[in-house]
Amino acid sequence: MANVVVVGAQWGDEGKGKIVDWLSERADVIARFQGGHNAGHTLVIDGKVYKLNALPSGVVRGGKLSVIGNGVVLDPWHLVKEIASIREQGVEISPDVLMIAENTPLILPFHGELDRAREGQNSVAKIGTTGRGIGPAYEDKVGRRVIRVADLADEATLELRVDRALVHHNALRNGLGLGPIDRDALLADLRAIAPEILPYAAPVWKVMNEARKSGKRILFEGAQGSLLDIDFGTYPFVTSSNVIAGQAATGVGLGPNAIDFVLGIVKAYTTRVGEGPFPTELFDGDGQRLGERGREFGTVTGRKRRCGWFDAVLVRQTCAISGINGIALTKLDVLDGFDTIRICTGYDLDGTMLDYLPTAADQQARCKPVYEEIEGWKESTEGARSWADLPGAAIKYVRRVEELIGCPVAMLSTSPERDDTILVTDPFAD
Ligand code: IMP
Repeated sequence: MANVVVVGAQWGDEGKGKIVDWLSERADVIARFQGGHNAGHTLVIDGKVYKLNALPSGVVRGGKLSVIGNGVVLDPWHLVKEIASIREQGVEISPDVLMIAENTPLILPFHGELDRAREGQNSVAKIGTTGRGIGPAYEDKVGRRVIRVADLADEATLELRVDRALVHHNALRNGLGLGPIDRDALLADLRAIAPEILPYAAPVWKVMNEARKSGKRILFEGAQGSLLDIDFGTYPFVTSSNVIAGQAATGVGLGPNAIDFVLGIVKAYTTRVGEGPFPTELFDGDGQRLGERGREFGTVTGRKRRCGWFDAVLVRQTCAISGINGIALTKLDVLDGFDTIRICTGYDLDGTMLDYLPTAADQQARCKPVYEEIEGWKESTEGARSWADLPGAAIKYVRRVEELIGCPVAMLSTSPERDDTILVTDPFAD
């Protein structure tokens, strides 16, 4: 049986929600393996809109097991609220359909506070985060002072863990001019939330290995995008987790041989939210047009997304780093009506041509995109369901993208509607 990893191949917001939903209908297990409630996945099913941050997309489909893996950082209060709001929409969520890895680190209120305090401090420290405490929670995980789901079950352990975290955080807060953490109030809050989280706690690594052995189809649902990866993204303007496909296995407790197909989600142009380099960013009418036609506003923060032309250099790079077998190309219809479309094929760095994005920040800043121009099309591609529905120039654009990134299109999405999809390769096919 094929197990499929879905990853964003740009800076996030590539339109993963629709594709994940399409695939989750065919999967038995849907697992989140990194990130947290900084993600915003919108699903439209039978006209109903579901907005998910921390929950795997599988929860809205009956009969599936949804899993929050150890690679995720989890805000328990947010999760409880999210479960309640999804329940209000008529979806049943119980420990039979949702499992949380016992070794998942928790995001606590002081993580969010720290995140926002740093962001508000000065322009040098600013990353443009979602302010949800993701980075500080991952820092605590690596710093061996985070509180994990399993710690909620034992009062003595919980107190020890809290004290360990507070030694670090109170010193840090002092330096930032924030008051000390109220230990008793925090412990009381944790004791109160524990019974709402613990019923979902499970040895996820074991469940996943058993699911794999019994031939269940697993969908690994990535969040954010490869260029926000903590190692391979545009550091330091990145998120704090490994976003790339290799993390799918580590983030749930499976071996790397559990992955059969990596699907990269790629938008037909480029967007990013927050700070950081963006070689093909547009500041003119074309950029504005992409933003308006593509409704490019962040689902989590509501921030306007920065827009630019398709950057084949970056996607070629992320396809390689994640071992992407095929891409799902989304939002092609946003390019309808442009006279000319540009694709970045390389960078000019002080007169030298580069076919990859260098790591050094100063070099990244000096990389000037080299463009190839492609004739646009006047016809609408919105809602196309077969290649025959697409204008010749649009097909030419797609073919050129494939050629430049060195990876084939497995799916082409032409509207937010799930059926407006051209399927070339079924990632779940054996
Ligand atoms: P953090 O993940 O909140 O720490 O934010 C770090 C960077 O990742 C910022 O530039 C955010 O805008 C970006 N980011 C985080 N989550 C997402 C997402 O789901 N989509 C797009 N960008 C994201």
